[in-house]
Amino acid sequence: MKIVVVKDYAQMSIKGAELIAETVKSNPEAVLGLATGSTPEGLYSELIRMHKEEGLDFSKITTVNLDEYYGLSGDHPQSYRYFMNEKLFNHVNIDKNNTYVPNGGAEDIQEECKNYDKNIEKLGGIDLQLLGIGGNGHIAFNEPEEELNFGTHLTDLTKDTIEANSRFFDSIDEVPKKAVTMGIGSIMKAKKIVLLASGKGKAEAIKELTSGKITTDSPATILQVHHDVTLFVDEDAASLINISK
Ligand code: GLP
Repeated sequence: MKIVVVKDYAQMSIKGAELIAETVKSNPEAVLGLATGSTPEGLYSELIRMHKEEGLDFSKITTVNLDEYYGLSGDHPQSYRYFMNEKLFNHVNIDKNNTYVPNGGAEDIQEECKNYDKNIEKLGGIDLQLLGIGGNGHIAFNEPEEELNFGTHLTDLTKDTIEANSRFFDSIDEVPKKAVTMGIGSIMKAKKIVLLASGKGKAEAIKELTSGKITTDSPATILQVHHDVTLFVDEDAASLINISK
């Protein structure tokens, strides 16, 4: 695992965007695994800038998102489909038909989960997977549990995550209690993984992630066995690990 400590959120966003841009340039038909949350917002703004000012070309790129709230359809302002359209897809030359986000409003959610993994296989797998991390060590919506799921599945959100994500909703009661998420296996099959973390709230999860131990109590720790992971962490998120810049 390559750990790159950067000064702050802005630097983390630029470094992450540079890595994605490299992939897009070297393979214009790449499949990118994308994430939502506050963490990648700056990275998406930087990709938009690169597209507008430097002609970074997304016309043949395919994207696959990690997760979606259960029960929210793509036109709900708090849905992750809506987020992706607003924060990235509407501002670059990507073909929206080539952007995949789980359908949280699907009538048959089990079928939706099965088809989501099948589609990733059909696309030839994910070339580069972008990840954030929850304060409790979750990746996508793979929450700390006794067992972790391999494939895309419907999951209960923990109290911590519901509370953390309530900042985007008018009230905590509006936060969905379940989500559809890619599983640990779907994520680990990506050829390359880049994880971003910023702020003191992520320091404990980053400490666990770099501890040399793997535990389902902190799902991100499984990433330590992947052969190509880069962490871009700012000084606050890195404050509990012993790595100099
Ligand atoms: C969310 C998402 C994750 C994200 C994490 C951290 O609930 N499901 O994909 O990485 O929690 O979010 P944030 O970047 O807002 O701190």
